[in-house]
Amino acid sequence: MEQGNANILVIDDVLSVRQSLQEILGAEGYEVETAADGESGLQRVKDQPFDLVLTDLALPGLGGMDILKYLVRHQPECSCIIITGYGTIQNSVAAMRLGAFDYLCKPVDPQELRLVVSRALEHRRLKRENLQLKKQLHKRYGFANIVGNSDAITQVFELIKKVADTDSTVLVLGESGTGKELINRAIHYNSLRREGPLIPVNCAAIPEELLESELFGHERGAFTHAVRTRIGRFEQASGGTIFLDEIADMSPSLQVKILRVLQDRSFERIGGVKTIKVDIRVIAATNQDLEEMVRRGRFREDLYYRLNVIPIRVPPLRERVADIPLLVQHFLHEFSRKKKKPNKRLNPEAMDLLLSYSWPGNIRELENLMERMVILSEGDEIQVTELPERFRSKPAAAAAKPQEIPDHGIHLTAAVQEFERDLILKALDKSNWVKSRAAQLLNLNRTTLLEKMKKQNIMSGMNTAASARNFL
Ligand SMILES: Nc1ncnc2c1ncn2[C@@H]1O[C@H](COP(=O)(O)OP(=O)(O)OP(=O)(O)O)[C@@H](O)[C@H]1O
Ligand SMILES: [Mg+2]
Repeated sequence: MEQGNANILVIDDVLSVRQSLQEILGAEGYEVETAADGESGLQRVKDQPFDLVLTDLALPGLGGMDILKYLVRHQPECSCIIITGYGTIQNSVAAMRLGAFDYLCKPVDPQELRLVVSRALEHRRLKRENLQLKKQLHKRYGFANIVGNSDAITQVFELIKKVADTDSTVLVLGESGTGKELINRAIHYNSLRREGPLIPVNCAAIPEELLESELFGHERGAFTHAVRTRIGRFEQASGGTIFLDEIADMSPSLQVKILRVLQDRSFERIGGVKTIKVDIRVIAATNQDLEEMVRRGRFREDLYYRLNVIPIRVPPLRERVADIPLLVQHFLHEFSRKKKKPNKRLNPEAMDLLLSYSWPGNIRELENLMERMVILSEGDEIQVTELPERFRSKPAAAAAKPQEIPDHGIHLTAAVQEFERDLILKALDKSNWVKSRAAQLLNLNRTTLLEKMKKQNIMSGMNTAASARNFL
């Protein structure tokens, strides 16, 4: 029996009712206990948590309604079904309003009983799952999840704490993969708006012609394909936070419109005349140099100042090397758990190589590397030889990629090849080893990339990584 191990308490003053309910539910595999009056029923509930309580409404002394009230207040995870005699239907409706799951009329029909009980238990299971998910969400996006104790990241934490419960606009600046999105979530989930929505908009990913309707929504018939009214992201975010990601990629015309929303917290849907007011907090992020873009006239200065109320600069990983060992440990642990592999360590020499690496892809690059190591590395200690080429052949690569031509000259073909190899590996890393995506990043077609990988001899290692990934 699927829900067989649920604990159920039946409270009724009539012995035959208690017995028949216990028999029917017992036959379904449930653990059923009984109580003959309200007082002893309440005591049982206090002594031991039940999954479900079925209680008669009219009990001598303490009534079913009191039991229900107690459960709603003190044991919200326990469901309650009311059993009601003829003439007390009104009361059972009141009980439902108070939070009873359902009610059954006497004489209780066994089939209906089984159905209602199983529905109540299913409902309870979903409710618990939901609570669990919410808890996980909070854990996931709370500070606990942002790993690091370098001075640089600690300053960022301090700033997040200070700004989180203000409603101020925050501008998160940092290179790609530094954790801007994580910081956005930490701010929202630590703010007074945490129960409200957090609506992300990736300004770079939505085609220019759709972005406006995506953000502001449209009225039915506003344009050819607008067959129904659409609520935009700004409206969805009301009561919560809107996260404008990759903000530097907005067109000039859209910049004007966003500016107005930031100033007045109001806008019109496309094709609409009604002005819509929204209560939103704005967090924006970019990995581009906005100041420079303002200087070059590519980003509106007034919008820049509106967004730049509280800037949070997330330092690149190479400027917080002290966090690398912690992050390594964190990701190794996470991926071992997720992939059900034994926990691995990093050999000290390998750690040295990671500490002196420049991490152009920042934490995302480190995260991807650790995932690969958990899958591919053989023993419980990750060896230098197991690290990708670019970590091991650093001095050689540096020699092959001189900043200036030394007196003794260089080997052009080798240097160009080394440079190409490096870029291909970076693109692969950035795209999580999805070759078609890496090819896009390099503006190559997939076949050309595959040919180049073959020539560069980076086929075999990647193949193992990719197939290992597919099996997990
Ligand atoms: N301090 C941190 N601790 C743990 N994980 C982190 C940390 N910073 C970033 N990460 C992880 O690194 C990855 C990249 O982070 P995120 O997506 O937030 O970067 P980003 O700055 O938004 O990058 P992009 O500019 O490319 O969008 C994510 O998987 C994130 O969970
Ligand atoms: Mg991001």
